[in-house]
Amino acid sequence: MRRHSPSTWDKARGQGPGADWSTLRTLFPYLWPPDEPGLRLRVVVAMVFLAAAKGITVMVPLLYKQAVDALTTRPDTTIIVVPLALLLAYGAVRTLSGAFAELRDIVFVKVAQRAIRSVGLSVFQHLHRLGLRFHLERQTGGVSRSIERGTKGIEFLLNFMLFNILPTLLEIGLVTAVLWSLYDASFALIAAGTILVYVAFTLSVTEWRTKYRRTMNETDSEASTKAIDSLLNFETVKYFCNEEHEAGRYDKALQRYEGAATKSKVTLSLLNIGQGAIIAIGLTLVMIQAARGVADHSMTLGDFVLVNAYLVQLYMPLNFLGFIYREIKQSLTDMESMFRLLRENAEIEDAATARPLALAGGEVRFEDVSFGYDPDRQILNGVTFTVPAGRTVAIVGPSGAGKSTISRLLFRFYDVQGGAIRIDGQDIRAVTQASLRAAIGIVPQDTVLFNDSIRYNIAYGRPGAGQDEIETAARLASIHDFIVSLPQGYETRVGERGLKLSGGEKQRVAIARTILKSPAILIFDEATSALDTHTEKEIQVSLREVSRDRTTLIVAHRLSTVVDADEILVLEQGRIVERGRHGQLIEADGRYAAMWRKQQEAADLQERLALV
Ligand SMILES: Nc1ncnc2c1ncn2[C@@H]1O[C@H](COP(=O)(O)OP(=O)(O)OP(=O)(O)O)[C@@H](O)[C@H]1O
Ligand SMILES: [Mg+2]
Repeated sequence: MRRHSPSTWDKARGQGPGADWSTLRTLFPYLWPPDEPGLRLRVVVAMVFLAAAKGITVMVPLLYKQAVDALTTRPDTTIIVVPLALLLAYGAVRTLSGAFAELRDIVFVKVAQRAIRSVGLSVFQHLHRLGLRFHLERQTGGVSRSIERGTKGIEFLLNFMLFNILPTLLEIGLVTAVLWSLYDASFALIAAGTILVYVAFTLSVTEWRTKYRRTMNETDSEASTKAIDSLLNFETVKYFCNEEHEAGRYDKALQRYEGAATKSKVTLSLLNIGQGAIIAIGLTLVMIQAARGVADHSMTLGDFVLVNAYLVQLYMPLNFLGFIYREIKQSLTDMESMFRLLRENAEIEDAATARPLALAGGEVRFEDVSFGYDPDRQILNGVTFTVPAGRTVAIVGPSGAGKSTISRLLFRFYDVQGGAIRIDGQDIRAVTQASLRAAIGIVPQDTVLFNDSIRYNIAYGRPGAGQDEIETAARLASIHDFIVSLPQGYETRVGERGLKLSGGEKQRVAIARTILKSPAILIFDEATSALDTHTEKEIQVSLREVSRDRTTLIVAHRLSTVVDADEILVLEQGRIVERGRHGQLIEADGRYAAMWRKQQEAADLQERLALV
């Protein structure tokens, strides 16, 4: 079995053996989508605009030079026509080169945004496919940040790889070729040499300071995970007056961030100083060469201007090279960590031959089921029982016995390690998960609601259900009257995770939701544990109504709620230690009978106290 440890996974982000350029390959299919010829066309057109923009950019200094030459060789001329025409052409070409660059963006933006959307969606869908185990072991904050950073990374990468690095390389090539063909080879050599030195210097320094950047990201993640966790536990913090302690923990993370951010900034400035020096030296050398050319008349003033214009034009985009290189590597790392989520294997997957569950009554059978969440701790041992179609079986037993585990296994959140679970004779590992889960409804032990209206949360049981169906379900769950008594009725918002409702109200919303789903098989895991005896009795009546003719598994602590079950299983430490109907178990005078007596005594006492 695969095990994930949160710490190694969280560390993996921003670490790894440096950015892996092969990540780009993962991105490629999204940029060249096979079934979207329109997007592919856009890519091609964008590339044409890119080439056009750069071709024109290289012409700008040439026109500039001719204008200067026209002015300097015939300074006394009254015919200003030639230079004027040249200057107009110069202006037009400049405008065009900018326009082409923008056109390229306009055409390409849809491709980039579509890629971001597709990647984001696949990751999201994949996260829902991954097992419960994955989600219990992950920090939600970390995963969502990973997606956020990953998609930002894609955007950055596309913008800069395609529209900065690629055009700049093209321009360097073109300019070197023009210089080479027009003048002495030394111009092209110095210009290209300077760029080489510059690039080598920038990349190596950037590589060196990446570690500060990485620490910065890590500490940033750490701080935000701490903040989220602390705020999620808002109430707990207050119960224990631990605000100081929380602030201290948060500040420690912030302090580490502060240190890393400072180092990062200082080293960036060092990099900038070095870059500036290299460019200045290259530029000076070339201009000295040009000045010598003008002095010995092998070059005109226009040539001098041309060389200068070319170099400034070339070196300008290099200013951002360090930043871009680092960000590209960072983007690659971010993307990699997002794509790693995509490669994370789903623990539970449909078998290749999986077929939809063929329901016929909904008989549930556990055959000698053994299971443990971890290999070194067995939770269920040889559990065997059958819930005949339409019947009700109750599971009772001490806390931690494995009762909820049985319902998780039936839902196939985990696979059993021994034995089998069958519904109408079909092993649940042989049917599709969607059809399996559609057939089962559960009122879980801890209900968590979506941060939306009560209506939304009930309707979640069957999206598209009408208002009358929602109300009927709410009535059966004895919550309708409460809901309409609220100022906003069914539109009342329940707060994050449903925390604005009381435990019993939440439970009844969950019951209504499951009633609306109306599945063939029902599981009630302590579905009424948070209710007072009166409300519980009321609901019991409707639950009995709802579960008539449905296969029902009830987990309960309060034994009075299960006396009518067709069979009662007493589970202890993952084993069924007693089984039978209520009467038989009482007669047998074993564990169940003892539990029953204890609860009866407590109930009697309560009644007597109530009378006093
Ligand atoms: N995801 C998990 N990973 C590891 N152990 C788990 C996990 N979930 C539950 N357990 C353990 O499995 C055992 C059985 O848990 P289960 O939730 O089935 O108990 P239960 O019978 O429903 O108890 P209760 O009556 O308190 O709800 C417990 O000891 C629990 O600590
Ligand atoms: Mg439980």
